[in-house]
Amino acid sequence: MYSLQLDVVSFLRDYWQQQPLVIRQGFLNFVDLLDEHDLAGLSELDEVDSRIIQHHQKQWHVSHGPFDDFSKVCNGQWTLLVQGVDRYIGDASELIEAFNFVPYWRMDDLMVSYASPGAGVGPHLDQYDVFLVQGKGRRRWKVGKPGNHTPAFVHPQIAQIEPFEALINVVLEPGDILYVPPGWPHEGVAEENCLTYSVGFRAPDQQQLINALPDIFDEDNTTNVRYTDAARQHSDHPSKISRSEITTLKSMILDVVTQPQWEQALMRLLSDQQLSTQTPSTLMQCQQLAESLDNGDEYVRIPACRPLFSDCAFSSEFCFYINGEAFTYGGENLEALLILLKGDPINNIFVKHYKPDDAFFELLTTLINKGYWEQTEDF
Ligand code: SIN
Ligand code: CO
Repeated sequence: MYSLQLDVVSFLRDYWQQQPLVIRQGFLNFVDLLDEHDLAGLSELDEVDSRIIQHHQKQWHVSHGPFDDFSKVCNGQWTLLVQGVDRYIGDASELIEAFNFVPYWRMDDLMVSYASPGAGVGPHLDQYDVFLVQGKGRRRWKVGKPGNHTPAFVHPQIAQIEPFEALINVVLEPGDILYVPPGWPHEGVAEENCLTYSVGFRAPDQQQLINALPDIFDEDNTTNVRYTDAARQHSDHPSKISRSEITTLKSMILDVVTQPQWEQALMRLLSDQQLSTQTPSTLMQCQQLAESLDNGDEYVRIPACRPLFSDCAFSSEFCFYINGEAFTYGGENLEALLILLKGDPINNIFVKHYKPDDAFFELLTTLINKGYWEQTEDF
């Protein structure tokens, strides 16, 4: 268990999205989730997004995984960076969960990097909030002020900036954490071989939200209204679109967003994690699930799966979303359902305590069959 030593209320009030913070011993007695060999093993897999950034003989190089031979790409000062580690290592999602005082819809993934002495990815800006948790080894971090930083074109795939004046200049030890808000320049340089865990967040921009608009027409009961102009006046120039016509067209777009179905399309977008799940080889029946729980089996949410719900504007049933998919719960025992969504293990202790109804068992059967929940192996 990773228990975060942080006054969350003060942090959200004074630092989140406002200024960086060094949290010394944010995790007491920090235990690494993996070592460099495990990380290298992950970077050998096709489905894992990994890269190595090298600084060798004054030149920057980038290589993309999957890797099978590290000898050429690990010369000089190099960093191996692996995205989405929380998808592959169960304990990694426990580290992310320590930051769930910011809700799931704002969370992105856990990136882990391993750097050789003197290595780093150079000075840069990120668009998103990040907590940089120091694992084994020590790393010097510098953080500067946001502003108009000059891009440094060191390599087409590396977005560095010119060196900046440091407001923060610290060496982090295992268990220390640096929070960096979006747009604050920062640079980490390994003092020795070291591991860094980046708990990253996300926030949609207008373009992403607008791109989700067409999805509303996939939802049931969406009204698609066409432009009409029965009260048309004589036009004074054939090329001209009048101001009032432009206003009407703009309001047609706004009307799409005010339909309750838009919230459904929005929830699909926000919950989409591009997770690829493994479905069980034989589909489970609801009755089998009840028996299996009775026999002492336990079921858990797969690592990195983060369901979302909101006060539903379009249905009287409880709706939630996983990885872009909508689910509804028609039962009465919302307490049990909320515990399920939170990711607590579902076992016979849970069943005795929360007394889930048939609708709950049906839903959990569906979630297991879709690969979002799975049986605990070593329970
Ligand atoms: C790293 O882990 O090397 C880079 C993390 C970051 O600066 O965001
Ligand atoms: Co960064």
